[in-house]
Amino acid sequence: MHPHILASLIVALAGLSAASPLLDPQVMEFMASRDTAVTPIGPLAHRAASGHKPRHLRPEEFVPAMSKRDSASVNSITGADVGQIADFNGSDPEPIRGANGATFLSNSNHEIDELNVDNVAGPTTDQGTVPNLKWSMSLSHTRLLKGGWVREQTITDLPPSQDLAGAELRLAPNAYRELHWHRVAEWGYILGGTGRIAVVDQNGKNYISDIKGPINGSDPDLYYFPPGTPHSIQALDDGLEILLIFTDGNFDALGTTFMLSDWLARTPLEIVAQNFGVNTSVLANIPQKDPYILPSTTPPPQLGDASQQAVSDPQGTSDIPYVFHISQQEKQVAPGGGGWVKIQDSKTNFPISTMLASALVYIEPNGMRELHWHINDEWLYIISGTGRATAFAGSSSSRTFDFVPGDTAVFPISYGHYMKNLSPTEPLIFLELFKADQYVDFSALQWLALTPAQVTADLLNISTSVVESFKKEKQLIIA
Ligand SMILES: *[C@@H]1O[C@H](CO)[C@@H](O)[C@H](O)[C@H]1NC(C)=O
Ligand SMILES: *[C@@H]1O[C@H](CO)[C@@H](O)[C@H](O)[C@H]1NC(C)=O
Ligand SMILES: *[C@@H]1O[C@H](CO)[C@@H](O)[C@H](O)[C@H]1NC(C)=O
Ligand SMILES: *[C@@H]1O[C@H](CO)[C@@H](O)[C@H](O)[C@H]1NC(C)=O
Repeated sequence: MHPHILASLIVALAGLSAASPLLDPQVMEFMASRDTAVTPIGPLAHRAASGHKPRHLRPEEFVPAMSKRDSASVNSITGADVGQIADFNGSDPEPIRGANGATFLSNSNHEIDELNVDNVAGPTTDQGTVPNLKWSMSLSHTRLLKGGWVREQTITDLPPSQDLAGAELRLAPNAYRELHWHRVAEWGYILGGTGRIAVVDQNGKNYISDIKGPINGSDPDLYYFPPGTPHSIQALDDGLEILLIFTDGNFDALGTTFMLSDWLARTPLEIVAQNFGVNTSVLANIPQKDPYILPSTTPPPQLGDASQQAVSDPQGTSDIPYVFHISQQEKQVAPGGGGWVKIQDSKTNFPISTMLASALVYIEPNGMRELHWHINDEWLYIISGTGRATAFAGSSSSRTFDFVPGDTAVFPISYGHYMKNLSPTEPLIFLELFKADQYVDFSALQWLALTPAQVTADLLNISTSVVESFKKEKQLIIA
């Protein structure tokens, strides 16, 4: 900064209240040392200098952007603005779209901006005050334990998600998620590794089954525990990582999860001993605090050998499976070839899962889950790829969000939405989850195709021949 500019700045600052941090000598020194051109500071500057490129994909052959971001003519959109994602061609996103907006004069968190270009320079169709509907698991506190970790997204993180909350759980090889039950239902999708679950139902029928992640390119397993049903999970020798879903946005509130060891530690020992029919001395070393996750003392039988561990049950074993093998399910291929879905719910193929309906969605590069809505809140989890969705909240309000792996999101009940795969090369894979006994969706295109053509034509000011070209079957995913 030129000395006389600095001098006039100091004069200007002198007019500020004495409490202003701008009068702090260190701040003044920093400002004096700072170039007038806006450059990132600290780790951001380091990141820029090292030529760091964000890990997420931006479709490179999509609308090219202007390269000169400091010029007043900077424009993230060339050609007609038809709502495409703004492309800053590797430069830091700026709040500019067409003739609107202006560069950041001060700093911004460019890493976050890059992951949320639609927050910074969203399509002009976005309007109103739609709340944030996205949460990255990377923003969650991670609880580290002997034998694994857990991180959650609950209603305090994402208030619009009333029906469902999520968590990621990691177990080291052979470690346990201890014996417990919940007030709500628990649904799990195996993100990686292998494990084994054990359950006992209200009639004393037991159930034990191995669970597998996406090994060798196959689709993984999922499981469901009804409310109140006691269960435990053990990793096998690969370790295990699970996406957990609970049928209450506030699932981690007091009175929601009940750990067996915690219960015993909070009960008079003589009562526990009498209940178990043993001498109190036998129970002298039971834990005084629930471990939540704990290592095993002896490795369990290997994958495929669950039956070696099964306890003989005079009531018999459960006749209804708690585990669903997605790898054994037929793909429902989108008619236009844009991808496929596999839907699981209690009405069609997973009878026990009466409170959770799910869909694994695979979108080919550049494909798009069609415009649609549901009769429940939809909770999403991005498994891989990069996506973009606009939530239409009614009342002329909508907001566009960008997604990368580990993002969760909610489309509240009835909100219209789509999900577009932004990559020209990679698939987008995600889960749709509902607190429901059946998967239900409504397709906008199918609705229009099956309504008298003149009605649609008059509303949209398009010809009836265009309306008649609309597909009458649900497209699910548009290529
Ligand atoms: C995008 O950036 C690359 C490399 O930084 C450059 O070669 C190219 O000209 C830029 N494209 C546009 C449209 O600005
Ligand atoms: C995965 O593939 C490898 C190599 O073909 C094989 O050795 C292994 O047993 C497979 N794992 C499973 C769980 O099928
Ligand atoms: C309980 O165990 C202690 C120590 O082993 C023993 O002295 C006591 O007699 C036992 N009590 C009963 C009721 O078995
Ligand atoms: C429909 O579009 C035509 C142009 O093709 C325009 O002249 C006309 O005003 C439009 N009608 C309505 C009702 O917007």
